[in-house]
Amino acid sequence: MEFSTFASRLCGPTGIMDLMDDMGRALAAGGAAGAAAPIMLGGGNPARIPELTARWRQRLEEILGEANGVDRLLGTYDTPQGQPGFHSALARLLQENYQWPVTAANVGVTNGSQTAFFLLLNMLSGEYPDGSRGKILFPLLPEYLGYADQGLDPAAFVACRPRVEQLSEHMHKYRIDFDAVEAALQDRRIRAICVSRPTNPSGNVLTDSEVARLGELARERGILLLVDNAYGMPFPHIIFEELLEGSARPVWNENTVLGMSLSKVGLPGARTGIIIAREELITALSRANAVVSLANGMPGQVILEPLLAGGEILRLSREIIQPFYRRRAEFAHQVLAAVMPAGCPWSVHRTEGSIFLWLRLPELPIPSRELYQRLKQRGVLVVPGEYFFFGGDHLKHWRHARECLRINYGQEPEQVEQGLRIIAHEVARVWNDASPAGV
Ligand SMILES: Cc1ncc(COP(=O)(O)O)c(C=O)c1O
Repeated sequence: MEFSTFASRLCGPTGIMDLMDDMGRALAAGGAAGAAAPIMLGGGNPARIPELTARWRQRLEEILGEANGVDRLLGTYDTPQGQPGFHSALARLLQENYQWPVTAANVGVTNGSQTAFFLLLNMLSGEYPDGSRGKILFPLLPEYLGYADQGLDPAAFVACRPRVEQLSEHMHKYRIDFDAVEAALQDRRIRAICVSRPTNPSGNVLTDSEVARLGELARERGILLLVDNAYGMPFPHIIFEELLEGSARPVWNENTVLGMSLSKVGLPGARTGIIIAREELITALSRANAVVSLANGMPGQVILEPLLAGGEILRLSREIIQPFYRRRAEFAHQVLAAVMPAGCPWSVHRTEGSIFLWLRLPELPIPSRELYQRLKQRGVLVVPGEYFFFGGDHLKHWRHARECLRINYGQEPEQVEQGLRIIAHEVARVWNDASPAGV
């Protein structure tokens, strides 16, 4: 069957689809009698945190106990902007905690932040009415693979390599190369700068000064700074402040577009994404959302609203979610250090936030895509690094892009440990095959 160019952008092979396919097949295998379920360290599924599951169950029971509970949850179309009560409660929480001058009119809801970014990135890139073309700059790669195929204009995205700072033998951190960013910004077609903070996949948290400088560069050029805060503050707060060089305060002003999500507080199935932006942009986004989605799912907004109003979501994030991931990240780092074979070069990004370990295997004799296939054969799903380097051929051909794996460390500790052991074993085999004298 023949499809349009639009379809060729969205329906061809994409990294995000490979990832979701892997997860779907793994879930099906897990459900099939007698089949060994793969160790799923690949996707972005949040961890199962018992206290949160209990709280969401309790909220559902409360809602179902209300006279019109089922209608509120499932029997009503939302507006394309979302629920006014949800907007007001979130705006108030942001005003009180960060003194941002936001009102309900600065808050937009979509069916997941993935959808919000698809709309935003295409509202700002591609052809403009005067015939010019807009582009999006990703100032620090590796960056979230979910953006990679979102630009309907294939030339819409440009990106910069990071500076790689080796903090110790087995730990590194990416920093923005501002010379490269300023050079890229000479291209006046760039209409927005986009970052995730904390970064999926590396676990990097851009420093306050990096964010301030990006904000200044954007303001000077009259373009927007998009900050995807899916793992950040105030919720789910998967940021480990004690590892940072300063604070990681979220920033918002009229020139910033802040993305948030309910997925990593444990509600990915509710598909609730949030955008905080200047009013004009929220109005435009809601119009686009009406065309694409008609309306939003209600459960996420209905479940969360009272937790926003009372501030409970802040306490849950700070006291339950953040320490939970901190323990799991520490565990994964300890296991990795214990199992990686001596003599194989490896380095992990400092896990300052998010739910991923980013393992670099310098000089690995095979590309990480091939390592991923070999690990899949052995029942371990991870994501090969290549997917996270998009926005120009200069990145595709960078060796570093073929030396990395993203590993979800939030899963059950036994699974993480077993998965890391198999990864370490396979890496040793790769090196042994390449130099039979052995490592
Ligand atoms: C950085 C980042 N942005 C956006 C998303 C999409 O999240 P949502 O579930 O809200 O669509 C993810 C999902 O993992 C993510 O990691």
